[in-house]
Amino acid sequence: MIIKPKIRGFICTTAHPGGCAAHVNRQIDYIKESPSIQGAKKVLVIGASTGYGLASRIAASFGMGADTIGVSYERPASEGRTASAGWYNTVAFEESARAAGYIAESINGDAFSHEIKQETLKLVKEKLGKVDLIVYSVASPRRTHPDTGETFNSVLKPIGQPFSDKTVNTNTGVVSEITLEPATEEEIENTITVMGGEDWSLWLKALEEADLLAEGVTTLAYSYIGPEITEAIYRKGTIGQAKNDLEATAHTLTKQLERYDGKAYVSVNKALVTQSSSAIPVVPLYISLLFKVMKEKGLHEGCIEQAQRLFGKLYSGATVETDEEGRIRLDNWEMRADVQQAVQEAWSGITTENVSERGDLEQYRLDFLQLFGFGFDEIDYELDVNPDIQ
Ligand code: NAI
Repeated sequence: MIIKPKIRGFICTTAHPGGCAAHVNRQIDYIKESPSIQGAKKVLVIGASTGYGLASRIAASFGMGADTIGVSYERPASEGRTASAGWYNTVAFEESARAAGYIAESINGDAFSHEIKQETLKLVKEKLGKVDLIVYSVASPRRTHPDTGETFNSVLKPIGQPFSDKTVNTNTGVVSEITLEPATEEEIENTITVMGGEDWSLWLKALEEADLLAEGVTTLAYSYIGPEITEAIYRKGTIGQAKNDLEATAHTLTKQLERYDGKAYVSVNKALVTQSSSAIPVVPLYISLLFKVMKEKGLHEGCIEQAQRLFGKLYSGATVETDEEGRIRLDNWEMRADVQQAVQEAWSGITTENVSERGDLEQYRLDFLQLFGFGFDEIDYELDVNPDIQ
């Protein structure tokens, strides 16, 4: 099969196995070139196949020498259709990690379900024994509740009043005004059910009940705050309510983990191009302006640089530095006053005509393509490849 990108709105419906492997291997190379970290050795990553979860898994194995089990929900190849990028990433990660001598096992299925939790516990027991780090990095538009079978959908909407601002079609470069209607109470609740902390705590409960938590265990989940520009749609919107819930869950989990001398942290990460963030209105325009500013200031990072910095902070041996809410702040460079001021200046008066000059749309598009294994110079996209790899 000759595989080319097929972009529909903010998703790409194809993925390239060789390109996804190149993407994974670049991240592995970055970690191998970074100083190694004495940290976790037995790691479970939930949401391990793309974005921050994949980077965390790579940094755990190649940076800390950890054996890993990854859970994700990806599509295998089928008649005439490529697998999803996360599928290919997982195959590539397992291959490289095993070749380097690490245990790397993966489970593909719905992490929200009791069945996948039980299947994972069995595998953890068999392959890892107890775990000393659990990274929760699931991003999903829906969740079927394991007890009731009811399916909830999350929405990306403002709360209280309509919100209008500029957005960009990253494919065409057209900047336009968008108005989003506020969420209903039910939509807010549903978004919290999908993206809040409940499933994270169900995972910890299941691991504890199965006696799979090691002494000194750490668990991590990822959050975002962001600037005033995205506040109405992000932090003060429906997804922000879910993140408040996730952050509150860290405090509850830390209390529960006291008997293991363990700790639950939320890390507030930088805005980056991932399959999830590209679906949020307004955010891709903000990200393309932010990238330009951060690159100019030599502060630009991707998921893998963030994961490496996170484990460096977590396992430095010193007290883990947090903000007054107990959160680790990996967004400190994004939120620096000089960075935000420059983004704000670029934002005011942004139009289709000046967006390419004020923002880094090229980088945005390349990052987006690379999420699906496209845009790598070392890959010949004219070659016939087998999409069905396991
Ligand atoms: P992503 O879309 O790249 O990754 C999502 C992961 O969740 C994938 O591995 C996917 O297979 C897995 N997943 C989705 N539904 C699942 C299910 N039902 N069962 C098992 N696995 C499932 O997303 P990204 O951006 O890496 O997000 C991860 C976390 O990082 C989220 O909490 C997000 O809010 C947070 N974050 C993201 C930022 C960004 O700019 N992308 C910034 C700061 C935080």
